[in-house]
Parts: sequence; structure tokens; C-alpha cells
Amino acid sequence: MAFEDTFKKLVSHCKEYGYVFPSSEIYDGLSAVYDYGQYGAELKYNIRKYWWDSMVLLNRNIVGIDAAIFMHPTVWKASGHVDAFNDPLIDNRDSKKRYRADVLIEEHMEKIEEKISREIQKAQVKFGEAFDEAKFRSTNNRVLELQAKLDEIHLRYSRAMKGNDLEELRRIIIDNDIVCPISGTRNWTDVRQFNLMFSTEMGSTADGANRIYLRPETAQGIFVNFLNVQKSGRMKIPFGIAQVGKAFRNEIVARQFLFRMREFEQMEMQFFVTPGSELEWYNYWKEKRMKWHLALGFGPENYRFHDHEKLAHYANAACDIEFKFPIGFKEVEGIHSRTDFDLKSHQQFSGKKIQYFDPETNKSFIPYVIETSIGLDRMFLQVISAAYCEEELTKEDGSKDMRVVLRLPSALAPVKLAVLPLIRKDGLPEIAEKIADDLKFDFNCQYDDKDSIGRRYRRQDAIGTPYCITVDHQTLNDQTVTIRYRDSMLQERVPVSGLRDIISEKVSLKTLLKEL
Ligand code: GAP
Repeated sequence: MAFEDTFKKLVSHCKEYGYVFPSSEIYDGLSAVYDYGQYGAELKYNIRKYWWDSMVLLNRNIVGIDAAIFMHPTVWKASGHVDAFNDPLIDNRDSKKRYRADVLIEEHMEKIEEKISREIQKAQVKFGEAFDEAKFRSTNNRVLELQAKLDEIHLRYSRAMKGNDLEELRRIIIDNDIVCPISGTRNWTDVRQFNLMFSTEMGSTADGANRIYLRPETAQGIFVNFLNVQKSGRMKIPFGIAQVGKAFRNEIVARQFLFRMREFEQMEMQFFVTPGSELEWYNYWKEKRMKWHLALGFGPENYRFHDHEKLAHYANAACDIEFKFPIGFKEVEGIHSRTDFDLKSHQQFSGKKIQYFDPETNKSFIPYVIETSIGLDRMFLQVISAAYCEEELTKEDGSKDMRVVLRLPSALAPVKLAVLPLIRKDGLPEIAEKIADDLKFDFNCQYDDKDSIGRRYRRQDAIGTPYCITVDHQTLNDQTVTIRYRDSMLQERVPVSGLRDIISEKVSLKTLLKEL
């Protein structure tokens, strides 16, 4: 199945099963803004908790805060966002559509890469076992030609991005015949910088309103509170401050569902270290964060690091953790060694000394910072796209059936178990309701007695419920029920009295956290 199809199916599944809805849908939606439904909100909460606990519970030297979205406007001057939080945009005069020039070029390069992959796949089929990919790449004329083209664009593109050369970005687009996907024409405007921050006004106009910004990242709320937290918590370096909260960006290219949104949530942690030790800590956090992803069990082959070629002016190392989404390998988290840029800049703009006094050396210094920054919504998309699965089943009579199942990690699943009476009589519903009522204090539990048992199982599979408990006539005699496992669809008989322990073990976040 083409990855666009998988993606479309995912979007419609999320809507049909109460995970994600377009914002203000009755008014035809608002571009790149989404609402989480009844199951989406639970899944998002569980991912947030997995992140928060892994930072704040598991590390004695990391504490969490919750800073306001509105901040003093000078914060964004000091952070560089007012002057430099820009994307290079280009308009097509015929379609009147606006694009990010860098994205147009990157997508063009991806297309060339896909062409190379297709040539390789064709040759693989043709030569079978004897196929030598390295040799093919270095001798096949078509592949060599495509690779040379790709290398040339890549070189020009990296130089233009590093040097902020907007004219060169435009020339790359023209020279490579990149057309507008809507109008199909090359009628492009110049490339201009576009600031991504949303602004609004605080206070009434009569009072003299102040222009303020909706924060484009949560990190600055941590930097401006560095001294407050360090002093009130008597924190000793190295230590970290974690935060989860909304961020806003007026993205030019806001497609791809939850991948690039205009309102989204970030989970960020700033780790303050002694200058000179930052690269050691950078590597430490790279490994830690990858472990956090891998513990979810989606397979190491679906993750990779991508080192940044173009470092921001304040960074001395940076990489992304990329996940293989249905739209290809894409960034889900950034790990950045930000030097002392932010604290130093806030010290300068605020006129307040922002330094750490080291009692061991009797010296004060501005700490260096390692940042881990992950989008909660993007992580949600990662989890749901890795979990979505269409399976062909063979029924007892040999006929084929289909099921859609969300293979969510049990600790993240919105509903942990569904309690289902086999039929709606003979006292079975009463027993099932009692079981659900007993377990509701421990787990998110559903009771369902509508439709056939098979249809109810399918409904729970589609929302990713890992366990279904069925109450049948045998329950009346021996107080046992069947537990059905979502992934294997196997069923076992277990005593009602043992349910809490059996399920706790399987769905507890603790089990996941212990792997870290
Ligand atoms: N404080 C550093 C920072 O904000 P970033 O790479 O711009 O770095 C960090 O963003 C993470 O936030 C990204 O890896 C991504 O997961 C998420 N993110 C950024 N822009 C986003 C958007 N428009 N929609 C959804 N998630 C986004």
C-alpha cells in the first residue's frame, strides 16, 4: 500500500474511533489545528505521563515546572525569535499558494532518492541472489546520473541554507524545474523570510496595548525561571528542568495531519551543566532518549539519529531522533547542545545576573545547556501510526475476514480492558457490571453489552484495548472469566479474583519505566 494511502486511512480511523477530530469541524475546520477526542485525550495523557515520569520521577536531579504561555515580549527578543525565527517562503503566482522554499527543495531531493531506490529494486528483482547493490550503485549509468544530480543539489542547498542565501534557494528551484504541485507552473516569486510567531495584544487599546507573542517553544519558560528553580530547590549542577505545554507556530506548510500543526504541545527538558562537560552530557541524553523510544517496542529498525548539518548559531552539537512514519523517516525529537546562549542573552537583556555559584570551586559561571525537545502530538502520531495494523484473518469455516487493530503498548492504551457479558440475560450483565465497577479504580475500564461478542471484540481492537474480559455461563458456576488478548486473539480462563493482579502487571506504566 502506498504510504499516502496508509496515512489517509490513519486519519480517517482517528476520526471514526474518537481519537482526533479536525478543529471546529462544523465550520469546515481550521487548517493545521486538531482536537483530541475521548480516546485521543487518554492516549495523549498517557504519553505525557510516560515522558514526565521518565524525567521527573526517575531522575533525582530533574524537576518539572509549568510556566505561562504569555511571556514578557523581551524574552523573544533575547531568544532570537523576533529576528531569526523565520522560514524561507516562496509564492506561486498562478496558484497563489505559498510554500517553504527549503521544503520544496527537500521534497525534490526525496523524489530523486526514490527514483534511485526504484532502480535498485528493479535490479534486485532481475538479478536475484547474485545482486550486489554497492557495485550496481557505482556502475549503473542511470543511478550514477541521478546520484550526481542529487549531490549537486545537496551541496548548493546546504551552502544556501548555511549562508541564508535566499536568492540561491530560488535559483535552485528554477534550475531544477521544480513546479507548483497545484498549478504545475514555474511562475515563482522571490524567496522571503517569514516570521513564524503568532502575536496578539495584551491590555486594552486605551491603556496602550502591548504586542505579545504566543510562545513558539516552551524552553524559554524554563530559562527565565532558571534562578527561581535553582535557588528555591537548592539544585546543584548538573540538574534539569522539565516542562510540558502548548506552543504555537504559524507554519507555512501545515499539512500531514498532526505532524506539523499551528498549535501543538512540546515536552522539553533543559539540562544545566558545567561548561566543557556539555558534549559528554549531549551523548548521554542522546542515548537516554533513544532508549525511551525503543522501550515502546516498535522496533529499532524504525528509528535513527540524524545529525544536523546546519547548526543554529547558539548550538555546538544537535541531532534529531527520526521515526519511520508512513510518510518516511521524519524528526520526532531534537537533542541540542545550546551552549550558554540563552541564559547569557537573558542576562544581557534583563540586566539581572543569571549565574550559578559552585560552592566547591567558589566560582560563578553561566551554565551550558543540553536540551531534549519532543512534540507530544508528533509522538502521538508516531505511536498511532506504528500501532495501526490491518490484518487478514481466516475464520473457522475457511472464509477470510479483516480486522483493524491498534497494537498500542498496553501502558499507553486509552482503555485497558473491556468487560463484556456474553449475552444480555441470565444475570451475566450484572456480574460484568460488578467486575467493571470493582476494577474502575485501578484501570480505565469499559463495559459493553451491545451487538454480538465478535463485533464487540473488533470495536475494542480498533481502539487498541489490550484485554477483553468475557463473562459467560461458566462464570455463574466457578467465578472464572475468559481474558482475550488483543494481539494474539488467544483466550484463557482466569478467576475473577485474580483479574486485578494479572492486568496490573501487564498495563502498568511502572513496567515500562523499569526498562529505562
Ligand atoms: N526548543 C527547541 C525546539 O523547539 P524544534 O526542533 O523547533 O526545537 C522540537 O521543536 C520538537 O517539537 C520537534 O522535534 C517536533 O517534535 C515538535 N514540533 C515542532 N514544530 C511542530 C509543529 N509545527 N507541529 C507539531 N510538532 C512540532
